[in-house]
Amino acid sequence: MPIFKVFRYNPRDGGEAAAIFQEYEIPDLPGMTVLEGLYHILENQDPTLAFRSSCRQGICGSCAMHINGQYRLACETQIAIMGDTVTVRPLAHMRIIRDLVVDLDPFFAQYEAIKPYLIPAAEAGAREYRQSPGERARIDHHVDCILCAACYGSCPVVGTNENYIGPHALLKALRFVNDSRDGATGERLAYIATENGVFRCHTIFNCQQVCPKDLDPTGAIGDLKMKSLWAKFTGKLRRTG
Ligand code: FES
Repeated sequence: MPIFKVFRYNPRDGGEAAAIFQEYEIPDLPGMTVLEGLYHILENQDPTLAFRSSCRQGICGSCAMHINGQYRLACETQIAIMGDTVTVRPLAHMRIIRDLVVDLDPFFAQYEAIKPYLIPAAEAGAREYRQSPGERARIDHHVDCILCAACYGSCPVVGTNENYIGPHALLKALRFVNDSRDGATGERLAYIATENGVFRCHTIFNCQQVCPKDLDPTGAIGDLKMKSLWAKFTGKLRRTG
C-alpha cells in the first residue's frame, strides 16, 4: 500500500514550526490519482485535512501542489508512478492558510495588475475585431494557462522578491501584447519593463519545467524582454503613471 506523507499545519496550533508530515496508508487501486488519495484520507481517515480541488480533470488549476519533489496537479498525477511513498506539500512562496491550502491573493493581485483583458486602441471604435488564422496563431502558445500557480511556487525569484510580477502574469502579458486586437502594447511593455518585471527573471526555467499545460513562461519572458527593449529604443514605451 502506498504511504502518503502529507504536510499538516494549522495556524491555531502555533507558528510554522508546528507543521508536521502526517502519514497515511492509501489503498493500491489502479488508476488512482494523488487527488483521489487525498480524498480517501479526507473521507475515510481524517476529515480535518484541508486541500483545494474542483474539476478533477486538469482544467480549473486548483489542485497544484508539491508532490515528490515537483510541482504538479494532484488530479493528473497517478500514484502508481510516484513509488511507494508520496510526499505532498503546499505551493511555496505563499502564506499557508492550512495544510495544503495557501493564500493565493498575491498571485491573483499580480495577475490583475497586468490587465488580463483586451484594451482596444482608441481609434478602433465600435467595430468587430477580426483575426486571421495567422494572427490567432501568435497567441496559441499563451492562452491555455489555468492559473494553477505551479510556476509561481517553483520560481526562486518570487521567493526572494514578493513584488516580482511573476511568470504567470508575464505569460499572460505576452498573450495580450501578441494579440492583434489589443491596442495597449506600449503601456503593457512599460509596466512589465519596470524594476519588478521581466528583467528580474534569471531564466532558471523552473516555470517552464513544471507547467502542467506545457506552456513556456520562460520563453514568454525572454520574448517580452526583447520587445520591451525594442520599444524603449524606438520610443514606443508608453508610461501611464
Ligand atoms: S482539480 Fe482542477 S486542475 Fe486539478
